[in-house]
Amino acid sequence: MLILGLNMFHADASAAIVLDGEVKFAIAEERLNRRKHFGGFPSLAVKACLDAVGAKISDVEHVAVGQDSDANLAKKVQYALANPAKILNFIRLRQRKQAMRDVRSLLAKALDVDGASLHFQEHHLEHHIAHIASAYYCSPWEKAAGFSYDGSGDFVSTMMARCEGSEIEVLDRVYLPHSLGSVYTMICEFIGYTQYGDEGKVMGLAPYGTDRYASEIGKIVKDASGGFQLDLNYFKPLGSNQGMQVLADGTVKLARHYSERMEKIFGEPRRSHAEITPRDMDLAFGLQQRFEEIFFHLLGDLHLRVPLDEIAFAGGCALNSVANGKLFDRTPFRQTYIQPAAGDEGLAIGAALHTYHSVLKQPRRHELKQSYLGPEFSDSRIQSALESAGLEYRKLDRAALLGETADQIAAGNVVGWFQGRMEWGPRALGNRSIVAHPGLPNMKDVLNARIKHREWFRPFAPSILAEYQHEYFEHDHPSPFMLHVYKIRPQKRESLCAVNHVDDTGRLQTVTREENPMYYDLISAFHRKTGIPVILNTSFNENEPIVCTPEEAIDCFRRTRMDALAIGSFMAVKREGSAEKLTTSASRTEDT
Ligand SMILES: [Fe+2]
Repeated sequence: MLILGLNMFHADASAAIVLDGEVKFAIAEERLNRRKHFGGFPSLAVKACLDAVGAKISDVEHVAVGQDSDANLAKKVQYALANPAKILNFIRLRQRKQAMRDVRSLLAKALDVDGASLHFQEHHLEHHIAHIASAYYCSPWEKAAGFSYDGSGDFVSTMMARCEGSEIEVLDRVYLPHSLGSVYTMICEFIGYTQYGDEGKVMGLAPYGTDRYASEIGKIVKDASGGFQLDLNYFKPLGSNQGMQVLADGTVKLARHYSERMEKIFGEPRRSHAEITPRDMDLAFGLQQRFEEIFFHLLGDLHLRVPLDEIAFAGGCALNSVANGKLFDRTPFRQTYIQPAAGDEGLAIGAALHTYHSVLKQPRRHELKQSYLGPEFSDSRIQSALESAGLEYRKLDRAALLGETADQIAAGNVVGWFQGRMEWGPRALGNRSIVAHPGLPNMKDVLNARIKHREWFRPFAPSILAEYQHEYFEHDHPSPFMLHVYKIRPQKRESLCAVNHVDDTGRLQTVTREENPMYYDLISAFHRKTGIPVILNTSFNENEPIVCTPEEAIDCFRRTRMDALAIGSFMAVKREGSAEKLTTSASRTEDT
């Protein structure tokens, strides 16, 4: 049975294909059309899903969308009526959403087929149920607490659920305008981070601050029965889309979230490229602290209703790996399964799996242990890309490729590492990664100056062989999708100085041989040379979506000051000096 899952006309549009209950392929449209957070219809992603399983759209029996514009309709109407100025906007938004429900026509158009030839059954699933489904149905458990939180989705920001067997029973919802995601976005915007998806940057800034704004931020997000409540005086009225707009061309835009009240209390908002002041750091600190308090409070309540050790969760806020890492100390939950695509691209998987299990009553059978659900490329395709680019390269056997890459990293060089299937979700997990030495004091600056150009305060992440996690980190719970931040043990901080954040933490990826043998063996090779079972891992890109194809990887390698590229079975190394030295005479002309 073939089920296509979709997230469409929403940020991070995506598609996933599920065959007999197993996720065979999943990809966000941005990786294919190269437009970050693209929010239109995922035409290319759908085609890639079908190609991956050798199917035609007419073979698909069910199409599931992680959005249901009829969900929570009474609440939406009630909200619109209480805010007459928003009624027109509400009606427009609803009309647009209704038009988008015609999935058959949209797919027929995208794939250039006759709509009448499509016989699939169509399913629409409420946003947060799809988030929870994306985590629970991928988890190994038959029973778990389910949780989802983000800015907004189908007029809800937070959902709690009891998950058992093939069922997800919703226990509670927090409706808009009350949203932890919106608070995060509002304060991010106030301190100059105004793009969709900037919240992770502010999470990295938080430990530089102090708690001087704790009580002020406590007034913005107040405790309330059933969860929390925002003081709306600090917010611009945001409408039922909670300030996020998807333009007709798929660009995702954020409206200004903060009101004049913020300026009155905290002063001028920071402009995007202005210097970061202690005020901004303290706001980031207070925000993260309050976010965590509310999150743990919500999870405490959830545990009272679902008293299990296991929690499966997703939603954009589930990417807050700092909060995730503290969960074991601050809540009764002992095991987490967090969907690697915790943001809205994950809805495609959630909607498809929910259809399989909950609607079609099929038994649970598939645990998603690794995130490598994207495309892969043959050596011959990679070789022709290298030839076309005019790069000098060598073909190596597996052991030589691992050994030479480990030598490069150990020598302090920066290596592009392109292997196997692309990761699903926002993190590079060792298949589309840039890798470097974690223990060189200048490595963070080198990476930023040469390739990544990120803010000075943002940390780089460590990938560690799973069996060494306990030796290096203060927590044992695995973090296979790089979604937990733990303290690094004091005696290991120096050897991990390039990935040790200012608060002595690291957002680790634990790597097992079972999940990624090639990457595991690379870290092992580096370990044998240096005694450190860890490498620095950052995403393979330069201010763009993570590279997907060999051509994109080669292009990124050539235009940045990466030292070497290990791609498939091939190794390209830049000679001393500049990228030009690498190229053949034909492409040298092009470069200069
Ligand atoms: Fe969401």
